[in-house]
Amino acid sequence: MKGFPLFPEIASTIASGVDLLYFFLTGVTAFFSILIFGLIFYFAVKYRRRPDQPPPEPAEASHAPSHYGLEIAWSVVPFVITLVMFTWGARLYVANSRVPDQAMDVYVVGRQWMWKVQHPNGRSEINELHVPLGQAVKLTMASQDVIHSFYIPAFRVKQDVVPGRLTTMWFEPTKAGEYHLFCAEYCGTYHSGMVGRVVVMQPEDFQKWLGGVTEESPVQMGEKLFSAFDCVNCHATGARQRGPQLGGLYGTEVMLQDGSKVKFDENYIRESIVNPNAKIVSGFAAVMPTYRGQLSEEQILDLIAYIRSLTPEGGVRKE
Ligand code: CUA
Repeated sequence: MKGFPLFPEIASTIASGVDLLYFFLTGVTAFFSILIFGLIFYFAVKYRRRPDQPPPEPAEASHAPSHYGLEIAWSVVPFVITLVMFTWGARLYVANSRVPDQAMDVYVVGRQWMWKVQHPNGRSEINELHVPLGQAVKLTMASQDVIHSFYIPAFRVKQDVVPGRLTTMWFEPTKAGEYHLFCAEYCGTYHSGMVGRVVVMQPEDFQKWLGGVTEESPVQMGEKLFSAFDCVNCHATGARQRGPQLGGLYGTEVMLQDGSKVKFDENYIRESIVNPNAKIVSGFAAVMPTYRGQLSEEQILDLIAYIRSLTPEGGVRKE
């Protein structure tokens, strides 16, 4: 973490692939820039006006190409090169967007001007993110105020953190050590101070670091909020049930009133809390009040963690 190296360290599974594409793009750009500028100078000197020669006749204006081979070459070659860039970039993007199933869940809330990180067992940290080596980590991120961007150069990952919705990103560290963490979206006066560090630890060190917490886990806090805000009243079986039971719904598709389907994921849960009438599950009425402004983004993430953990039998799955 010292000095100003030209490139950040390569510390995640996707970093080398991103670098390779980056070098390819830079190489192609450099090659054509040098070629074009070189030719401009070469032709400018070679075909300069000489004092003893009369100016040439104006070239005849014509719509027919004067050299088919040349015209086809300078259309087809760039086309192929840009297609290679597109395919390569798209494949990398798709591969890097797919979160592995066994990824560890970490919640992040950005606000002016700090990052709050919440681990599944309850341990939380500010402007720091501790993760175990060789384990895929999925970040679910919310913003309490303006747009921020969570950026770890050594992992080659960056994702905007946007108010009003949740965004996710994932990475798998391949090298123990400390790395920079930046906010990469201008978010006000102290944007430049919204920095921190990511610490990649050996798995057994990480377990030690995690252990011995007395704080409540997001699932436990979510469970408390679930009863404190009386969610449990309407989302339960029995005579008073007015909303869908939530156990086992996470990750499935639910049917809406208009017959369309929606994935029951983090963003749908969040939307249903702040704007319950946006997408109502088929068979239920629009009776749920909005909780916009009553819950912080952190509390919403806790509720999501709790709802995710609910089993169809009504129990709570251990993380
Ligand atoms: Cu937060 Cu810039």
